[in-house]
Amino acid sequence: MAEQKTELHNAEYKAWLEYPYIQSSAVIECYSPWCSNILTVKQDHPVIKSAVRELTRGIQGMLDIEATIAESQDKDKQACIAIGTFDSNHPLITHTFSEATRTAIGSEGYAIRTNTEKDCIAIGASTPVGLLYGVFAFLRLLGTGQSIETLDVVDNPVNLLRMMNQWDNIDGSIERGYAGKSIFYTDNEITEDFDRLQDYARMLASIGINAIAINNVNVHRFETMFITERYLPDIAKIADIFRNYGVKLFLSINYASPIEIGGLNTADPLDSDVRQWWKAKVIEIYKVIPDFGGLLVKADSENRPGPFTYDRDHAEGSNMLAEALLPFGGIVIWRCFVYNCKQDWRDRSTDRARAAYDHFKPLDGQFMENVILQVKNGPMDFQVREGVSPLFGAMKHTNMMIEFQITQEYTGQQRHVCYLVPQWKEVLDFDTYAADSGSSVKRVVDGSMYGNKYSGFAAVSNIGNDHNWTGHLLAQANLYGYGRLACNPELIAEQIAKEWIMLTFGAEDEQLINTIREILLTSWHIYESYTSPLGVGWMVNPDHHYGPNVDGYEYSKWGTYHFADLQGIGVDRTIKTGTGYVAQYQGANVDLYESVATCPDELLLFFHHVPYTHILKSGKTVIQHIYDTHFDGVDRAAGLKEKWQSLKGKMDDSRHRQVADRLNEQALHAREWRDIINTYFYRKSGIPDEHQRTIY
Ligand code: GCU
Repeated sequence: MAEQKTELHNAEYKAWLEYPYIQSSAVIECYSPWCSNILTVKQDHPVIKSAVRELTRGIQGMLDIEATIAESQDKDKQACIAIGTFDSNHPLITHTFSEATRTAIGSEGYAIRTNTEKDCIAIGASTPVGLLYGVFAFLRLLGTGQSIETLDVVDNPVNLLRMMNQWDNIDGSIERGYAGKSIFYTDNEITEDFDRLQDYARMLASIGINAIAINNVNVHRFETMFITERYLPDIAKIADIFRNYGVKLFLSINYASPIEIGGLNTADPLDSDVRQWWKAKVIEIYKVIPDFGGLLVKADSENRPGPFTYDRDHAEGSNMLAEALLPFGGIVIWRCFVYNCKQDWRDRSTDRARAAYDHFKPLDGQFMENVILQVKNGPMDFQVREGVSPLFGAMKHTNMMIEFQITQEYTGQQRHVCYLVPQWKEVLDFDTYAADSGSSVKRVVDGSMYGNKYSGFAAVSNIGNDHNWTGHLLAQANLYGYGRLACNPELIAEQIAKEWIMLTFGAEDEQLINTIREILLTSWHIYESYTSPLGVGWMVNPDHHYGPNVDGYEYSKWGTYHFADLQGIGVDRTIKTGTGYVAQYQGANVDLYESVATCPDELLLFFHHVPYTHILKSGKTVIQHIYDTHFDGVDRAAGLKEKWQSLKGKMDDSRHRQVADRLNEQALHAREWRDIINTYFYRKSGIPDEHQRTIY
């Protein structure tokens, strides 16, 4: 049933699992002989079933071959694909993979090898989920037109946890969702559209995601009851679906649950009744979901309850939950997005950017082994550009994972194209200088720098029930790229983009591939250029965060200011004259950011307050930079539209039209940004544009 229904869906729905038919007969000729037969020893493991199903589906789509599935090699049939775990006694697997290869493959890794002697391409792994990843990797090779004659691939995901955070609510809404309603919940009930969930699980598995928290980190009244018998049986059904694709289920919880659903009068983590209550709760959860992943917690953040109410710190707060989860192998993922959201804008000494470090750094070494701190990539909040969070590398004795935002809250809300992989790469490659060498953020979050037990990636999902999942079709590339990067942070942004394009639109049309790749790779800087100059951030409309409003947050309580006056703009975060935030960095980064002379242009206003006449490294003044980038950004946004037009007829009309519509809107809206921002700063500074372009 699920299969049939999915087949009715079109390319935009199938996304990068579209498996478009390969046009080149030469390529078909190379692939077909191998792909007509699949050999797998009888395995009823549900994940292996998923793998075989996927392999057949991919071969069917790309090669138009109905592959036979057999247990042993037929003498007449020459070539085949053999798939099996190393312990399956599958003779072709045993024959193909050496002892060295087997030991090199971790619990989620896989090996693919062309065994010419046995006429097979073998996909082997130590676990069913490794096998599933191996199958997806093999399909990726076919989908991107690689030769399969001499394959010898050994691959292990670099990060242990590769997680998706859904910010979905039971009423069907999604916090910061830009692609329709939730696929998990409708009208205050858990969905019964399991087919859609299964298709999402497939998409996640295909990019190596192995964990999902299925509800918003802001846990409201009904979602607080997810850990009660009212909802747990249905949640267990969701866990079943994701389990078949190797994805573990987590829940976001309300820290005040003992009060709200437990009938206690406190949620104090040191209170014995509270501790007992959580222990019993966790037992109840594991009864229904034996492989439950654990709990995701937003506490003492943006008005959510937490241990501060009881004068307890976040180590005490999280350890209480960790203790309950420990016997089951469960983990607590504790978010570090903790800051004063009731700041007085007149107060220039409080700096929101400092908050996470100030709260958490002193607690290093006090967290239990099954607590992981989840730290946003930057110290503010998923801006188009901000510094890298100085917490990375700062806590030697604490498990840490990074949190990205795939949903484009501050980066165009999936109405503008903004391929975020280059931004994430910059963060991952950032050197924290926390050790003599190899101390980039990616080494902190893969756990190798400090030998952590748990670590990894989390990101806020960008999908909803829009037919194409992400609203803007090109935003699928962000979801795809996130998973690929979580598996291997060394992949380059361009390569990921190319892969996504080939899998989504076919691998054969060079012009199409190059055009879309160029659109994606330039999109982040284009968006940045007409929205947020020099790292200043935040000049958006309050609440919904879409569209220009230079003073939208200037006199608010959120701690997000630009401090523009008639002479200059920017936030002085230096040690000498500012908020002292710079001191949270280590090694060479301190001097780099402390001095106006060395601070990179793109972060200048994030770290310094400078006059509009300050000369940048580019040779331009700050004000002229603002004018120029805004004019330029609008031209380039219009250019994206034209580039896309050149692809008309190269894909189905529906996908072409969808993107064309969004790019039209983007081009129009970029003008709005340009004119409002340029006008604002012209009026503030009184300094005219050197090129006398129209400013209002
Ligand atoms: C941002 C976002 C909120 C979200 C919060 C979080 O502030 O606007 O909607 O709840 O981040 O990460 O918790």
